[in-house]
Amino acid sequence: MQPEGLTRGETREAAETPASGEGRVAANAPTHTVGEAVAHDSAVGHVSGRATYVDDILEPAGTLHVAPGWARDATRATLVGLDLEAVRSAPDVVAVLTAEDVPGSNDVSPALGDEPMFADDEIVFWGQPLFAVVATSRDAARRAARLASIETDPLAPVLTIDDALGVNDTVLPDYQFRKGSPETGLATARERFSGRMEIGGQEHFYLEGQVSLAVPGEGPEITVHTSSQHPSETQHVIARVLGVPDAAVTVEVRRMGGGFGGKESQANHWAAIAALATRITGRPCKLRLDRDDDFIMTGKRHDMRAEWTLGHDPDGLIRAVDMRFFARCGYSADLSLGVVDRTMFHADSSYFYPDAMIHSRRLRTNSCSNTAFRGFGGPQGMLAAERMMDQLAIRLGLDPLDVRKRNLYREGRDVTPYGMKVEEHGVLHEILETLEHTSDYRARRARIADFNRENHIQKKGLALTPVKFGISFTLKHLNQAGALVHLYTDGSVQLNHGGTEMGQGLFRKVSQVVADVLGLTLDRVRVTATNTGKVPNTGPTAASSGTDLNGMAARIAAEKIRDRLVTFAAERFDVDPASVTFSDNLVHFGSEAVPIGRLAREAHLARLPLSATGFYATPTITWDRPSASGRPFHYFAYGAACSEVTIDTMTGEMRVDRVDVLHDVGHSLNPALDIGQIEGGFVQGMGWLTTEELFWDESGRLRTHAPSTYKIPTASDVPEDFRVDLYASRGNPSPTVGRSKAVGEPPLMLAISVFSALHDAIAGLAPGHLPPLDAPATPEAILAAVTLMKKARRA
Ligand code: MTE
Ligand code: MOS
Repeated sequence: MQPEGLTRGETREAAETPASGEGRVAANAPTHTVGEAVAHDSAVGHVSGRATYVDDILEPAGTLHVAPGWARDATRATLVGLDLEAVRSAPDVVAVLTAEDVPGSNDVSPALGDEPMFADDEIVFWGQPLFAVVATSRDAARRAARLASIETDPLAPVLTIDDALGVNDTVLPDYQFRKGSPETGLATARERFSGRMEIGGQEHFYLEGQVSLAVPGEGPEITVHTSSQHPSETQHVIARVLGVPDAAVTVEVRRMGGGFGGKESQANHWAAIAALATRITGRPCKLRLDRDDDFIMTGKRHDMRAEWTLGHDPDGLIRAVDMRFFARCGYSADLSLGVVDRTMFHADSSYFYPDAMIHSRRLRTNSCSNTAFRGFGGPQGMLAAERMMDQLAIRLGLDPLDVRKRNLYREGRDVTPYGMKVEEHGVLHEILETLEHTSDYRARRARIADFNRENHIQKKGLALTPVKFGISFTLKHLNQAGALVHLYTDGSVQLNHGGTEMGQGLFRKVSQVVADVLGLTLDRVRVTATNTGKVPNTGPTAASSGTDLNGMAARIAAEKIRDRLVTFAAERFDVDPASVTFSDNLVHFGSEAVPIGRLAREAHLARLPLSATGFYATPTITWDRPSASGRPFHYFAYGAACSEVTIDTMTGEMRVDRVDVLHDVGHSLNPALDIGQIEGGFVQGMGWLTTEELFWDESGRLRTHAPSTYKIPTASDVPEDFRVDLYASRGNPSPTVGRSKAVGEPPLMLAISVFSALHDAIAGLAPGHLPPLDAPATPEAILAAVTLMKKARRA
């Protein structure tokens, strides 16, 4: 029997046009886009201003505005009195919230209960919120917040790493990995040296600051639109603060204007305050932090001190290392467990340490609570390792690239300090060899030597450094994801997954995967805002694993729907299921085809479900932290960069002249997005290591809290000659979606080549001497190092 409305043999022309298209995909657009350089789904929206961020959402009638209040003269103090009378009676103020107004628990920490939403007895850092003002305008709320009269009893703050070591206070216990016998290895090595380095932190400077809009629902229900990388955790924290079940709280994230790790845990605080304001006033409430407050109140990349002792052979082969990391965590634990673990996991960079001790301390200081930042502690570990390599090269008078190559992981020398085998060391070698050749490293090294002989004021430096970055959350349970896919009867798809879009292109990549499974053009696939009511209990979008996890979950969901349609079509048309294929918005069987919408409609009439969930948990991960054993990572992403710099020895100014990058993304799902991530990550890393300097004064106030005092790279800082290539991968040997590899964080660490090149330029001033250069290598730091090197040379 011929089903109604479904005519066999309908051809391509009959393919319906969907109702949901954005008009940016041509009618004859391909339906197999995985691997294609398709534009970001919001590219036009981003540049035209039509992409909606939280602050762009049309405010519901009666929306109120919230601003946090804090003590401007206290870093660490006992709170003696808080008089909010003047605040309450200020114009347009509707409510003032303090710890006493919290119906649930006054805690916004991810896990440990150590982050009060409003300080109630003790102030532990400069900028800690004590209360919040709810007013009819944002301006009124901010003005009123300054009228509090706050009485405090100052206590001596613990500010620096040395202060914290002095009082021996940590936010979490010390942790270490040991491999072999580092003591014996160091004692028996032919040569040995020690070193140390201070590594600065980094402010996220997402273009969109922290922001939340809470909208009341029926009874305890509340919906919060926020800019969070971790909607599920934001939901749980709001529920905890309000004292309502998780089920009463819905968190929605359409997109972030950048997160970079700064909204992995630290969006919760502001979402919870907005939710409390809504609970107390019964009205929609929005909290958008002012940029200065965002700088002052939220955590940053951990600044650290690294110390090492290295034993080696006369030819530069490493025998044993002892590396110690001291992280300034701030007042609470936040994500410091995972962050500093990742520093340790990357303290080997790409090098084999036969015997190793990697140790870490998580120090408590009276400062904002440091948090995730692209690379999640990994960059600090790798920077220390690369500095160690440069130091080794200087001591032996060798080219640093030769020292690096000599120590790379290779066959038989392939086990990390935490016991995981590096399987793809061949890729690492191939990338370095290729880049050495394509960047013309050796010839440029010679030309630079000539340049430096002839020029007395300007000096050049060159460095080629590798990247090996472990992909997976080292907290095992976070390696899971869910997705929800609906096929509608017009042949269009709504796709939802637990991942959040922060500019990295996750939504586009996942939509490409789903479109491929169902043979749809991309205009048929609409990715909707991340919503805890659609996909529950998700992990954060972090650890670069957004696509690995959500791409898989979405593919599994789409395949369920596709398989149902295959079975249905095979029965209806009496054809072999194996002959049913999907492309061009059509379902093909043999030489015939029907539009997928028609088939969906028929399947619906036949009462088949056209919606499916998908769930994915990363296999192969077995890390056990207490015993420091097992496999923490699904795989590694690799890359290398060669940077050339020129410094001015009179002023300390520097310029990055040329950068060559070769980076491994496996089989790219989307080369345009991947190259965008590589370029963006590199430039952000360059900012961390050269211009972005955080400065806290002797009383613990952050003095760099605006673009006037904190310099992130701008378009004009992008290297003039910037050559980015994707490594010709044979595909990720670990099973990932499309055999791709994660790309979000690893490229940031390519920028270590810039630091190393600066180090090289300075090292040339006094051969054999180690440039006293810490990170960031600002013009001041470069000038200071140059001055000391000139002195060393004269001495
Ligand atoms: N790219 C943009 N444009 N904006 C961002 O906020 N965050 C980075 C990276 N790339 C970020 C970005 C960080 S810290 C991570 S962990 C990954 O993106 C997260 O996304 P993914 O897992 O989908 O790669
Ligand atoms: Mo990225 S630091 O893991 O959010």
